[in-house]
Amino acid sequence: MERDRGKAQRQQHLFYPPGHLHFGSTAGTASQPGAATQTRDIDGVLAPSAEGGAPLPRDGTGRSAGRGHPARSHQVATAGQPAGDPLERRPQETARHAGKCPVAPQCPLFSPPRSPNPRRGARRGACGAVRAAVPAAAVRGPREEGGARRAKRSRDCSGCALTSRPARPLQVEYHKKYGKIFRMKLGSFDSVHLGSPCLLEALYRSESAHPQRLEIKPWKAYRDYREEGYGLLILEGEDWQRVRSAFQKKLMKPVEIMKLDDKINEVLADFMGRIDELCDERGRIEDLYTELNKWSFESICLVLYEKRFGLLQKNTGEEALNFIMAVKTMMSMFGKMMVTPVELHRSLNTRVWQAHTQAWDTIFRSVKSCVDNRLEKYSEQPSMDFLCDIYHHNQLSKKELYAAVTELQLAAVETTANSLMWILYNLSRNPHVQQKLFKEIQSVLPENQLPRAEDLRNMPYLKACLKESMRLNPTVPFTTRTLDKAMVLGEYALPKGTVLVLNTHVLGSSEENFEESSQFRPERWLQDKKKISPFAHLPFGVGKRMCIGRRLAELQLHLALCWIVRKYDVVATDLEPVETLHLGNLVPGRQLPVAFRQR
Ligand code: HEM
Repeated sequence: MERDRGKAQRQQHLFYPPGHLHFGSTAGTASQPGAATQTRDIDGVLAPSAEGGAPLPRDGTGRSAGRGHPARSHQVATAGQPAGDPLERRPQETARHAGKCPVAPQCPLFSPPRSPNPRRGARRGACGAVRAAVPAAAVRGPREEGGARRAKRSRDCSGCALTSRPARPLQVEYHKKYGKIFRMKLGSFDSVHLGSPCLLEALYRSESAHPQRLEIKPWKAYRDYREEGYGLLILEGEDWQRVRSAFQKKLMKPVEIMKLDDKINEVLADFMGRIDELCDERGRIEDLYTELNKWSFESICLVLYEKRFGLLQKNTGEEALNFIMAVKTMMSMFGKMMVTPVELHRSLNTRVWQAHTQAWDTIFRSVKSCVDNRLEKYSEQPSMDFLCDIYHHNQLSKKELYAAVTELQLAAVETTANSLMWILYNLSRNPHVQQKLFKEIQSVLPENQLPRAEDLRNMPYLKACLKESMRLNPTVPFTTRTLDKAMVLGEYALPKGTVLVLNTHVLGSSEENFEESSQFRPERWLQDKKKISPFAHLPFGVGKRMCIGRRLAELQLHLALCWIVRKYDVVATDLEPVETLHLGNLVPGRQLPVAFRQR
């Protein structure tokens, strides 16, 4: 029964991460041991949105700094970002990559623009050439040859843009055919795709104070209907900035995140017991992905609500099951309303609208009760508690807090589980890497000692392993931006309102950016670091709107690796190719062929 439930959960994308929702199915194959999983198709890419706000200034005052000079706006944007982040680098530093830049000589690393009007667009690239910008309509793309029609047909055949049917490798194919920037029209949805570090850097450096992604209209419709708040995934403008600043102070600050290692370890200890319990005689777990999702669900809930839901126990409680069912229903229903107008659903009170509304009601009821308990518990000493501290030291209303916390949870669960799954897969296919990692862990951690956040400072190879896995199998293979002002990108003048698809997976699998790109070689992050453009590896997105949970996710994943690799040899049970599918995230097309053997 437990197993059936697990299967059903997986099939219905129970842990679909709203932070990273995309439409269209993409597939690829990880064929050779250690080979990259390549995206094979894009069926009308669409990623829903979370809209913009400004960054947290370095002084942490919440004041936003001026924009204008790239270095200045860059400084503002990067406050609180992880160290070594590409966004910490100045244009002069990254410009040397222009030599290798596939879009040179129209390199977009501009010195200050000559003309403030991008429509007139005479600009000087880092390469020194002055070019006139070409209108967006001239961006080449599949529509010229019926490719978008092809993409649409293939989406239509699959019945729904969210389905997981393997499809042709359009995304990679189109970048190969049309270059690092191409345009795709799919029905009324028109987007410009970017697939080069230079273009992403140029975009980032001219990013406005409140960058926007595509909208998640069904979520907004529910919140407006029930007068609930918006969280970071759907907030826009000044409001996004305010909420982002409140959470960023905690979530992006290493010392704050390091304090959470106790909680993360508590859940990991249970998860180890769960692995032992579920492994068959050959060390295989029937539905590993669902189990990993349970682990990350427990982890984020302990951090956010200081509450355990019992998902790693044999008998899951009713409250947890209701909550999980509601998340699952909401996810599948809102997907339907992304492809048909939500206004219509609402005015006709369709079943989809009703189910979506009821599901959100359950989610909000549960979150509110968890958050209220926590606020009450720490009301006398708010600084003792992660959430209480955020609430008391910022001007957030309870309504804003509920919405923000809900969305943090939704954005966290499947992403973290998915990343852990892929690294286990990559380690199983590269035993020599796993052995080296095991040695590093042993050298830092005495036997029976819990791994702590500060121990990770001495584990560069472990960090490189995660980075390499996220390069080959990025959980979120692309993100989006909607331009809130006209800009010149590459040699094209793009009007306000243009939807950009930032194909981060394409960057990671490109031979131009990574030598022997199909190989799982963590050493590249330690030895060839300087050769790699910092904008070629963006698994958590880019700029002011990048993932706010990055540090937390990394801590969870690093600690999970310590626990798992120390206890088990993760082995491949076959070396057949593993197809990958886009279900919002990059997921394997079959049960992962991995097993856990006690060391
Ligand atoms: C390995 C795990 C994760 C991956 C790969 C990941 C990836 C991403 C990506 C690519 C974006 C879009 C960034 C952009 O548009 O530039 C994003 C946004 C976001 N993520 Fe994550 N994420 C992960 C874990 C988490 C966790 C643990 C949390 C919560 C604690 C979280 C919360 C969010 C939120 C709230 C946003 C929207 C931020 C905003 O618009 O201000 N993510 N994430």
